Amino acid sequence: MLPTIKWEGEIVSILDQRKLPAKKEWYTCRNYRDVINAVKKMVIRGAPAIGVAAAMGLALGASCIRARSFPDFKSRFSLLAEQMRLARPTAVNLRWAVERMLRLVDRLADQPVAEIQQALRKESEIILAEDIEINKTIGHHGLRIVPEHSTILTHCNAGSLATAGYGTALGVIRAAHEAGKDIQVVADETRPWLQGLRLTTFELMEDNIPVTVIADNAAGTLMRQGKIDLVITGADRIAANGDVANKIGTYQVALLARTHRIPFYVAAPLSTVDPATPDGNAIPVEQRPPEEITRIGRTVIGPPGVNALNPVFDITPSKYVTGIITEAGIIPPPYRKNIRDTIRSNLPRFSS
Ligand code: MRU
Repeated sequence: MLPTIKWEGEIVSILDQRKLPAKKEWYTCRNYRDVINAVKKMVIRGAPAIGVAAAMGLALGASCIRARSFPDFKSRFSLLAEQMRLARPTAVNLRWAVERMLRLVDRLADQPVAEIQQALRKESEIILAEDIEINKTIGHHGLRIVPEHSTILTHCNAGSLATAGYGTALGVIRAAHEAGKDIQVVADETRPWLQGLRLTTFELMEDNIPVTVIADNAAGTLMRQGKIDLVITGADRIAANGDVANKIGTYQVALLARTHRIPFYVAAPLSTVDPATPDGNAIPVEQRPPEEITRIGRTVIGPPGVNALNPVFDITPSKYVTGIITEAGIIPPPYRKNIRDTIRSNLPRFSS
């Protein structure tokens, strides 16, 4: 499994996902601005992965701050944190990581600046390592919902590449494969960035997990033909009532799954749950440039000047979600109560 992001001395190296699967190129970040740029430009993407990138970017930024006092350091660090938080709006993991780094700074207010800088670097390494462990635990909990001899449909890429490693939705699939279950995967291609075609198939093929890509529009037909047993997707933000923001197209997959009585599960770490967002209507949905729709690569495929809309996430109401697979177990409906209870009983982990 390729690492998504890593420290190399004083540099953060990010596997450039825009180039996959054709090229394995590393994008070098020498300062926090490079990391923000990498997140905005989709060099790295996927909710947990951009959370890890934010933590590493802030550690990088902090190391360049020359401050004589804690208040001076804190005010400059807070400015970096604010810019990092705004890099992409929908995935709450980004905000979660920024807030975790800010809390650490506050806890170390009586320490010399050099100590705080080192602690931030260490914290970013911990966040990265924890993410892989959390995904393995999600995979373990998800095992029981994967039937033997089943075909699982997934949307976008919620795999190793969307996290620090192993993946969430693909983490469950990996765990099932490792446990010897006879499974195969159907990957929606996921227009317009084609994360399903370029990334999900790439990483599953590297692990010898059988995968077939389909055009997004084919999901309904396969379900009607009885060819899909289970749907598992990732999430960018889960509201307090269980509504799920995920890659555009997830909502229609959930509706199709309900119509065809196919279980629809969401796999995500607790850092994707946002108890401060009451429901899906309050989740900000990122709009990206219309050219991402009207072009493929550099080739213009629409008539010049055509109007295009490009919301890149959608909201799946919680009533269509069979269960949310987290590192704390599978959360069943009713979500408002069960999410609140899960967060309460995992509070130290949730807000360390
Ligand atoms: O625009 P992207 O590629 O960052 O969107 C990614 C997704 O929607 C994923 O499904 C989600 O972040 C979960 S990743 C474990």
